[in-house]
Amino acid sequence: MKVVVLAGGISTERDVSLISGKMIYQAMKRLGHQAVLLDVFLGMERDDIDHIFESDEDFSAGIEAIHEINPDISAVKALRKDGGKCYFGPNVIKICQMADVVFLGLHGADGEGGKVQAAFDLLGIRYTGTDFVSGALAMDKCLAKELFMQNGIPTPAGFRLKKGQEPGEGQQPKFPCVVKVSSGGSSIGVSIVQKEEDYQAALDDAFLYGDEVVVEEYIKGRELTCCVLDGKALPIVEIAPKEGFYDYKNKYQAGSTIEICPAPIGEESTRKIQKISERVFDALRLHKYARMDFMMDEAGNAYCLEANTLPGMTPTSLIPQEAAAVGISYDELCQKILDMAFE
Ligand code: DAL
Ligand code: MG
Repeated sequence: MKVVVLAGGISTERDVSLISGKMIYQAMKRLGHQAVLLDVFLGMERDDIDHIFESDEDFSAGIEAIHEINPDISAVKALRKDGGKCYFGPNVIKICQMADVVFLGLHGADGEGGKVQAAFDLLGIRYTGTDFVSGALAMDKCLAKELFMQNGIPTPAGFRLKKGQEPGEGQQPKFPCVVKVSSGGSSIGVSIVQKEEDYQAALDDAFLYGDEVVVEEYIKGRELTCCVLDGKALPIVEIAPKEGFYDYKNKYQAGSTIEICPAPIGEESTRKIQKISERVFDALRLHKYARMDFMMDEAGNAYCLEANTLPGMTPTSLIPQEAAAVGISYDELCQKILDMAFE
């Protein structure tokens, strides 16, 4: 099969996406597909585009390791400026239209939030993962929270703040609280704020990455995550960072977090969180696969924080670990995601 793996882009999760993309691309090759890995923003300029799928070249050259533990937003900003306004680099659309399917390895607002999916629908390009409506709903953490509440899905109480907006009624935090970018990912711009003196700095930091933030009640307890694959919940992972919370460094630096799968939380809590995950999947109109993130307090109450519609596929990512717990290898997971694009 002719497969384009699309990665990179210009969101704050660009580096993470490049790693996911490279891993997926390598899996595609092992599975015997004719695969091309493209940085969606940089594209590819060469004379033999029409024969690209016949080439034996390794198209992952140049996409190496995460070079910065802290995401360098200035590099992404410079890339946006240098590359002009079009999200799709040279020949990206053309190559995607030549493929049988595009495997989306994109993360973050631009690639995960429905816009690419909507463009591909209009262009007749088949892609993996959920559609544009659910991508947009899940990417907006404030909107997702409203849908959780309407559907009786437990979620920390919270409110939305816009950049430059004076806080109004119902927009006063209680401490400790969590401040996060509404359309962010990988914990970039996320702070746990213990006391009022630190609140403004946390807002300022979050607003560096987006014009809307969500401020929510801090749930002290255990961090858990549960993927839904083809409508069915996988085993749960417990995430135990050795220090602090599951921030960018703890997410992507191997060895900084202990992940336990299946999570040792007992059958009842496991079943409860799996059920909630499937309800989130329905409430946000999700398709194919997604990963739901949770906090469980000391009394055993689970709160859904968010849904990730293109969850990480890096060596430290969670959906491959959940799949492995039910005997699905990384390559089999990739093939399953690919197959679901044809359903
Ligand atoms: N946003 C990152 C890629 C994740 O959810 O895994
Ligand atoms: Mg996320």
